[in-house]
Amino acid sequence: MSVSEEEARNIIFSEARTHNDWLKKDIPNNILTDLFNLMRWGPTSANCSPTRIIFIKSSEAKERLIPFLIESNLEKTINSPVTAIIAFDTEFHKHLPRLFPHNLDAQNWFNYSEEVSEITAFRNGSIQGGYFIIAARMLGLDCGPMSGFDQVGVDKEFFFNSKIKSNFLCNIGYGESEKLFPRSPRFEFNEVCEIL
Ligand SMILES: Cc1cc2nc3c(=O)[nH]c(=O)nc-3n(C[C@H](O)[C@H](O)[C@H](O)COP(=O)(O)O)c2cc1C
Repeated sequence: MSVSEEEARNIIFSEARTHNDWLKKDIPNNILTDLFNLMRWGPTSANCSPTRIIFIKSSEAKERLIPFLIESNLEKTINSPVTAIIAFDTEFHKHLPRLFPHNLDAQNWFNYSEEVSEITAFRNGSIQGGYFIIAARMLGLDCGPMSGFDQVGVDKEFFFNSKIKSNFLCNIGYGESEKLFPRSPRFEFNEVCEIL
């Protein structure tokens, strides 16, 4: 694959849209593996990599997820080929001796307080969620992220008996561009940024 700098900008940001309607086209499992293998290289604090993902692809798994969605997110989720549950493990620190081997003390930076480990997992899990969207777009997929769902219900259904918590859902697939609504505006640099 070779794309120009301008094409890459368009694919990831300038022309990429949030999709709500999907072509009836499957995503092969090897693309889901490629997606993870790409996004995992994005940085996290102490390389803690707290994101855990369940790719909901089968109709049986979709049926387990559907009851927890708000009404306006139902149809697009039923119709998407895959819905990823982007979650984070608040016990990520157990893996730091493997993931941050040059400092074996690193797990103690996070494991002394549930509040610290949860804030760290949420922060880095959300950043990894952004990497997920960028990686998916680089692989030619479209995304439809959603926070409109019953988080506690999803956690009971999919992460029972663990310290993993759902963050957001992301429909992925090949979007039906004709049904997109007009792009909403974004802030201008001077409205929200400062250079000091
Ligand atoms: C974390 C997150 C949660 C979102 N939750 C929902 C949602 O529950 N339902 C929905 O229809 N859109 C949801 N959206 C979509 C946003 O409204 C959309 O990405 C934004 O308006 C930008 O649209 P654009 O990418 O087409 O410019 C969510 C987006 C993000 C990033």
